[in-house]
Amino acid sequence: MAPKTKESNPIRVGVVGVGRGLSMGGSNSTSGLQLVALCDTWQERLQQAGERLGVETYTDFDEFLSHEMDAVILANYFHQHAPFAIKALAAGKHVMSETAACHTLGEGVALVEAVEKSNLTYMFAENYPYMAYNQEMRRLYQKGHIGDFQYGEGEYVHPDPASIKLGRSCGYDHWRNWIPSTYYCTHSIAPVMDACVVYF
Ligand SMILES: NC(=O)c1ccc[n+]([C@@H]2O[C@H](COP(=O)([O-])OP(=O)(O)OC[C@H]3O[C@@H](n4cnc5c(N)ncnc54)[C@H](O)[C@@H]3O)[C@@H](O)[C@H]2O)c1
Repeated sequence: MAPKTKESNPIRVGVVGVGRGLSMGGSNSTSGLQLVALCDTWQERLQQAGERLGVETYTDFDEFLSHEMDAVILANYFHQHAPFAIKALAAGKHVMSETAACHTLGEGVALVEAVEKSNLTYMFAENYPYMAYNQEMRRLYQKGHIGDFQYGEGEYVHPDPASIKLGRSCGYDHWRNWIPSTYYCTHSIAPVMDACVVYF
């Protein structure tokens, strides 16, 4: 029998959120993923994406979870990932959460408990440590060229012209317009952690 490979046996993935989410779960043999379903409450955008990618679409998260798939990628609103992750784990799906895990400490505790109970894989996705300049800083730090890390603060500042900012954060109540800048700290903190933490 031919051995199972990521090409012959890809992870079937459903993605929630067709903004950033469309850059996730792309079906190709290199990633080992196969995009099988999309979920979004923004019907027009969802339909366009579903037709373009040729996958099933859902506006209801519970219905989406009944789709035959192995894992769910969460790219819905930044501050709403934990309840979605907990539900997906309870439905037997592995979870990857894009750049945000939870909105409160209480949600964080509930999420950890749900992961422990599930025996499934939960991944927190943060891409900045893999950028070339952050990799180079990591290399320089680990060679001892920079000194010892003492103290760090993380915040996310994303300077854009108004037209881009408004396009990205449509609506007065959009999460990008009100979350405290320290909440979206992973883009800053993750490269520092990656450089300074010694892996055993
Ligand atoms: N790593 C990076 O560089 C990077 C870049 C952009 C965004 N992100 C992260 O990705 C996530 C999404 O970001 P975005 O810019 O696409 O946000 P967005 O607010 O533009 O899009 C979120 C999408 O989720 C949908 N959605 C909201 N509630 C839903 C629900 N209950 N059910 C189904 N769909 C729902 C919305 O309709 C929208 O299409 C955020 O957590 C953000 O931090 C990461």
